[in-house]
Amino acid sequence: MRAQGIDNSYKILIIDDEEVVLDSCAAILEGSDYQLATASDGTLGMKLVREFQPDLVFVDLKMPGIPGLEVIDRIHALDPTIVTVVITGYATVSSAVGAMKLGAYDFLPKPFTPDEFRLITRRGLEKRKLVLETIDLRREKEMLRENFAAIVSHELKAPLGAVQQNLFVLEAELSGSLTEDQQRRLERMKSRITDLVKLIHTWLRAISVDFDTIKEKFEPVVVASVISKAVDSLQPHATRKDIEVVTSLEEPLSPIMGDEGTLTEVLINLGNNAIKYSYAGSQVLINAHEEDDRVVIFITDTGVGISKEDLPFIFEDFYRGKTRQPVERGHGLGLALSQRIVEIHNGSISVESDLGKGSTFVIRLPIYCSDRHPQPPLQAEVIRNP
Ligand SMILES: Nc1ncnc2c1ncn2[C@@H]1O[C@H](COP(=O)(O)OP(=O)(O)OP(=O)(O)O)[C@@H](O)[C@H]1O
Ligand SMILES: [Mg+2]
Repeated sequence: MRAQGIDNSYKILIIDDEEVVLDSCAAILEGSDYQLATASDGTLGMKLVREFQPDLVFVDLKMPGIPGLEVIDRIHALDPTIVTVVITGYATVSSAVGAMKLGAYDFLPKPFTPDEFRLITRRGLEKRKLVLETIDLRREKEMLRENFAAIVSHELKAPLGAVQQNLFVLEAELSGSLTEDQQRRLERMKSRITDLVKLIHTWLRAISVDFDTIKEKFEPVVVASVISKAVDSLQPHATRKDIEVVTSLEEPLSPIMGDEGTLTEVLINLGNNAIKYSYAGSQVLINAHEEDDRVVIFITDTGVGISKEDLPFIFEDFYRGKTRQPVERGHGLGLALSQRIVEIHNGSISVESDLGKGSTFVIRLPIYCSDRHPQPPLQAEVIRNP
């Protein structure tokens, strides 16, 4: 069999205790270039999954020894990218549904015709191709991101730093001899260069922050201390904009496992946003309490809010809201970086916003219990505005 668009070097494994099924599948695939292996029980099947490394595995649900459902579970635990299809008698269609809940891609009811078998094989391999392509694309994107970071750091950061340094020296040397207009232009140059250097710095940080190293240094962190450090950093910005930052913490808050520095950075990013996108005279509230084994931190403002067109994208690199922005500079990186940091803490970050009325960002972090297993990661969510 030659299936269009599918590379015939794919490997197929069939696990079934009925010899007649194994033989007929082998006969149907005869003449194709697929590599085929067969196993008459789950134990041998699992051995072949490890050694033969199949792309697609057919698993009979009713077998002596390890039950089919468990075989599927073990295959996916070993390699979640392997596509599995269950073979089942009519009487066990409900188990096929169970198998699909466990991640099986499809099911083949017995008895099946050669065409049905070929069709499901083809569909399963197409699925496998898609899965592998997605993994490749993700890897490629990651490499691009890293290469970009390297290019930016080598090709832009150093020369810009030199220009900035020379401008400072020049300004000192020309001190007193510049006209008012020349001084103004020099200031503008300095400010633009400083912005660019800051952008490169933030960008590099957003794409190349070494999360593995940060994770290695995780220790119990006191949330109140993170909030207090962040508020100290936010104060000058808040004062400049005549905005009051009000905190309210439920005491005592359990510690969380993490890195105090990067968590403080997240609160500073969200706090700076709350201030940046708010009006003079308003308040930014930072609240924290415990809820179901998580510490939950709310950062609430009554500023411009976020439109529902912008909301799905605000956590993406370089995304800046398109609507109703006050004229404040930014690079669209603060939230992207914050989300990455919160995720390595097994936490989640979400937002609820009402255009023209304000926004609330919510960070949820699992509390640290030395005597308990770590919490499963939280799903990131975006709560859309009504
Ligand atoms: N509290 C907020 N109120 C209104 N809009 C917000 C708020 N926080 C974020 N946004 C929107 O989300 C976008 C992305 O935010 P993000 O912090 O990533 O970037 P930025 O603030 O534009 O720039 P920077 O990289 O300097 O942080 C912002 O451009 C803005 O449109
Ligand atoms: Mg920001």
